[in-house]
Amino acid sequence: MTSHVVRKPEPRPEILGIDPYVPGKSKVTGLDKVHKLSSNESPLGPSLKAVEAVRALANRLEFYPDGASTELREAIGAAHGLDPARIICGNGSDELLALLAHVFVHPGDEGLYSQYGFLTYPICIRAAGGVPVVAEERERTASVDALLEKASDRTRIVYLANPNNPTGTYIPFSEVKRLHAGLPAHTLLVVDAAYAEYVSRNDYAAGAELASTADNVVMTRTFSKIHGLASLRIGWAYGSDHVIDALNRVRGPFNLNGAAQAAAAASLGDAAHIERAAAHNAHWLPWLAGRIARLGIEVTPSVGNFLLLTFPNEPGRTAADADAFLSARGFILRAVGAYGLPESLRMSVGSEEANKGVVAALAEFMRGEGARPR
Ligand SMILES: Cc1ncc(COP(=O)(O)O)c(C=O)c1O
Repeated sequence: MTSHVVRKPEPRPEILGIDPYVPGKSKVTGLDKVHKLSSNESPLGPSLKAVEAVRALANRLEFYPDGASTELREAIGAAHGLDPARIICGNGSDELLALLAHVFVHPGDEGLYSQYGFLTYPICIRAAGGVPVVAEERERTASVDALLEKASDRTRIVYLANPNNPTGTYIPFSEVKRLHAGLPAHTLLVVDAAYAEYVSRNDYAAGAELASTADNVVMTRTFSKIHGLASLRIGWAYGSDHVIDALNRVRGPFNLNGAAQAAAAASLGDAAHIERAAAHNAHWLPWLAGRIARLGIEVTPSVGNFLLLTFPNEPGRTAADADAFLSARGFILRAVGAYGLPESLRMSVGSEEANKGVVAALAEFMRGEGARPR
């Protein structure tokens, strides 16, 4: 009898230690109409100019896109007052966050992020062969002191989402600068400002100023949130020449598809749409926070387009109970147990109908009507 040794390609061992990222749910079995409030998408959708740009591209699908996203980088540069040569576009900012670790984390080196930081950071660090290191937060907010305490000679990258997902909290720009000042020159600080457009605080800045002047700071941004273009996957990063040059060497040659490039550039030309989206959020975020807090649910102060809701640890009133109750009524929120927040749910600011509906459903739930089957 011959014995067969099964041979198969073996991933690097650290790859199998990664828990895949689980996106927010988008469906409820048995319900046709749902309000998806699980992925911080824009309730206003994209600019009609972006939609038209995608339609126009449908007639030219046989051509490769511009691999350097030149027109889009120029449009971003013009909109933000930045040098287009120091901008790189990516297939979502996710792609750029991952490439940064691949390029700058040497195997066995450390990548640092804060306790409730965006979940792709440890994935990026591990996938690059690095060791994730977590700094504790204070009041669900990144702590510069804790991050600096955990930074070591082996720290190659620090990811800071500002504002952070899923907490919605932020640190003032003075604190970002203090963090940068405390890091060694060989450590890259990645300021992930995916939600920057929603923040209206005097002490906040997305990070362009620091990324303009320091060799070891890069700012990442996205068209997935306020621009309402999540489906097309468009992100960008701005940093020093040597950081952008290194990323350009490893990105896919045509990493940003043509529809994405055209839609994003068109969206930048529709400032009125972005203002409407910001105004919608500025109205509904405090409205939701106030109404939900009055129901006895803890609401973490947020400057983004979403809220972290923390439920009482009482039978029938937990986050898992609330999730089931809301789902049955067509409101899909985001469970955040994977972040170490099993008692919380994250909710995007939705349309007027969705916002009012969630508040009404949560009121019912907190009155104890959650216990009753429906
Ligand atoms: C903090 C943060 N960074 C980055 C991203 C990824 O955005 P993109 O759609 O550009 O990949 C998200 C998306 O939820 C996010 O919350």
